[in-house]
Amino acid sequence: MKPTLAFDVYGTLIDTHGLVSKLRETAGEKAEEFSRIWRDKQLEYSFRRGLMQNYEKFAVCTRDALDYTCAYCKIPLIGLRKEELLESYRTLPAFYDVEESLKGLKAAGFRLYAFSNGSAEAVETLLAAAGIRKMFLDVVSVDDLRSFKPNPAVYSYFLKKSRASGDNAWLVSSNPFDVIGAVSAGMRAAWVRRSPEAIFDPWGIEPTLTVSSLTELEEHISVYLLAERRRY
Ligand code: LAC
Repeated sequence: MKPTLAFDVYGTLIDTHGLVSKLRETAGEKAEEFSRIWRDKQLEYSFRRGLMQNYEKFAVCTRDALDYTCAYCKIPLIGLRKEELLESYRTLPAFYDVEESLKGLKAAGFRLYAFSNGSAEAVETLLAAAGIRKMFLDVVSVDDLRSFKPNPAVYSYFLKKSRASGDNAWLVSSNPFDVIGAVSAGMRAAWVRRSPEAIFDPWGIEPTLTVSSLTELEEHISVYLLAERRRY
């Protein structure tokens, strides 16, 4: 069977900094910093809720992180403006390399899934808005387990839902914490390092392979698997 690919959504397929130009209207030159803090806090809140076993949907982490960021940057976003921003977050844009790469991988017979902290409904909306929903066999959300990545249980849940085994299933993610979580839970993982500035956490748990864009993924996985077959 061709490998199963579990695509992380926020930050890998979908650009979580896709609202920077919109943020400029209110945050001016702080827009980039605002976007970065918003994303970092959103993830931190998901990690903490996971650890505390005090689950709320990822959209709640996003909303609470927005409130924190407004306070931190001293930019009050009142009423409608905040709702408008959160509404735009539901249809963030895909990265430039996504559509073509997914088409190629699907045509080559890889089994493609979206696997996310976002609820199934939120991910369905995002993928449909980006015009890429049809590329995936299914959307697997951590929401079913009421926990978040990188809890090992959510990676096991992915394997169960996709009927794949860890040695034939790859997480594809730009988020180092997600890559480390997947490898640690027994999956393979490709780190999508679109920027040379991106740093991988120095934990001694390495990605199975690293690509600089999704365009390279099909070839790199194929070469890796061929070399592996030759070894055994
Ligand atoms: C996701 C997170 C990692 O989509 O952003 O699962």
